[in-house]
Amino acid sequence: MTTLNQQQDPAEAAKRKAAEWAASQIEDGMAVGLGSGTTSALVIEEVGRRVASGLRITAIATSEQSHHQAISLGIPMTDFAHQPHLDLTIDGADEVEEGTLHLIKGHGGALLREKIVAMASSRLLIAVDPRKLVKILGSIFTLPVEVVPFGWETTDARLRDLGFAPELRVTDDGKPYVTDGHHYILHCNLPQSGLTPEQAASALKQTVGVVEHGLFLGMASRVVIGSVDGIQILEAKR
Ligand code: A5P
Repeated sequence: MTTLNQQQDPAEAAKRKAAEWAASQIEDGMAVGLGSGTTSALVIEEVGRRVASGLRITAIATSEQSHHQAISLGIPMTDFAHQPHLDLTIDGADEVEEGTLHLIKGHGGALLREKIVAMASSRLLIAVDPRKLVKILGSIFTLPVEVVPFGWETTDARLRDLGFAPELRVTDDGKPYVTDGHHYILHCNLPQSGLTPEQAASALKQTVGVVEHGLFLGMASRVVIGSVDGIQILEAKR
């Protein structure tokens, strides 16, 4: 009989399958971007194992948390001053739109660094469990938008006028959540805005006070979806 402790959480098992396959795509000599979130933590764990077995890479992380995890596992870390271009970034996502591979990212609060690292990479590989697949972006998750703390109330008001129904992200004690880049996050409702992801991305970029948004459009080259039984790969059509 299987005890509760021996039963595998299917979501955790799916993330691990995706993470292991994603980490296997790293080749000797690569400069690699390491993502944020629970799936990326599993990727970093696996990369740490491969580095301990002789894989030679350098890496840049998308958050302080991932950076510290990588250091603790002996992964050689670098920065953009020494390594302006990355071969491959592996990251998680909050939502993956099935047809387009457009993403919503940032619920780990790291969207700005995630986008900078992804933009500096030749390829962005996204590792997820099947719960992240959606037909339309914004179906499950809100869209995080990183804003400058100064005057955030006025930025919030302008995003409200655009129909995004923003809500300030707060910590458990009710204080504004502060990102690694010292910004605030406004969680926006994409479907309520009535805008397509492309229109929303453009409107957000034109809003003064917005630093970056969590729409990653046309950026993922591949998505690996783990399941208890194995993996499925979705390739970007370009
Ligand atoms: C971090 O800011 C996010 O973009 C993460 O990549 C996303 O939240 C996925 O996290 P999980 O792997 O924990 O679901």
